[in-house]
Amino acid sequence: MPAAAIPALRAALLAWYDANARDLPWRAGPGSARADPYRVWLSEVMLQQTTVPHATPYFLSFTRRWPTVADLAAEADGAVMAAWAGLGYYARARNLLACARAVTEKYDGVFPDTEAGLLALPGVGDYTAAAVAAIAFDRKANVVDGNVERVVARLFAVEAPMPASKPELKRLAGEMVTDDRPGDWAQALMDLGATVCRPKAPLCERCPVSRFCAAFARGDGETFPRRTKKADRPRRYGAAYLLTRDSDVALVLRPPKGLLGGMLGLPTSDWRGEPWSDEEAVAAAPVAGAWRDAGEIEHVFTHFSLTLRVFRAEGAMDAVWTGPDGLGALPSVFLKAARKGLG
Ligand code: ADE
Repeated sequence: MPAAAIPALRAALLAWYDANARDLPWRAGPGSARADPYRVWLSEVMLQQTTVPHATPYFLSFTRRWPTVADLAAEADGAVMAAWAGLGYYARARNLLACARAVTEKYDGVFPDTEAGLLALPGVGDYTAAAVAAIAFDRKANVVDGNVERVVARLFAVEAPMPASKPELKRLAGEMVTDDRPGDWAQALMDLGATVCRPKAPLCERCPVSRFCAAFARGDGETFPRRTKKADRPRRYGAAYLLTRDSDVALVLRPPKGLLGGMLGLPTSDWRGEPWSDEEAVAAAPVAGAWRDAGEIEHVFTHFSLTLRVFRAEGAMDAVWTGPDGLGALPSVFLKAARKGLG
């Protein structure tokens, strides 16, 4: 989206917000008197934790019980912690109280009315300071949460993947902020992200700014923001040895500590970062023998994937000799390898 289109985009989104703003208990409503900073601050702290539907009953019960920041500040820690239960992360509740007490004691119960002043309060980070400055004080501030990141990534079709693209998304969001109605602008973006520009199945046909949206023009809005694939599990390689004597298979007891500790398994080589050649694998076998390649198996553990080459030979060794029926109790990685070796 070209910078020249920003004024028209702003006008379209603010007009949509005027007609469609969600009616939320901490909101003053579009264009109206400023919202109570205490309620805005409390709602933003709760909403960092959870969704609007989950946070709303907590917000209502907190504000009924503690109508002002001084009421909250005067409450015993335990009562606030108990009321917070269900919102998760008690550290947030502790910060909430520390902030309420700082506002009450140092600022006479009046929240600072600038982003910098808010940022100096205990437990108030970049996002909360920007949100309260914009929503409660109508200060120009760049309010960027996950919803806003998604909207911006789509409007500008930002190809760089999250989370590395966060600074770029914040910069682009900042280019759309002006001195005109900053609080409504921040909430308009949030509402658009929550109700129209949804993570899955965005309602582009109802979007007031689709004509400005680069992702919509490409027809693949839902694929933004891009994300880096979760790093693949590391892969390890090993060799497993199926030594048979008639129809019995040699099993060994694994060391008591570590993966599959204390369990029976096929003898194996070390599991390492590089594949094993035939020569290396045969040299690592538990006994000398006419080892033949019987294929390989894959197994996925929590922290790595394992490729095991399976070798088979007839012979004897000191082992727990087990008939075919006993193999069913093996950990699945060894069962797979035994089945592969038995063909
Ligand atoms: N999510 C976080 N803050 C919000 C707000 N003020 N309005 C709607 N959704 C939000």
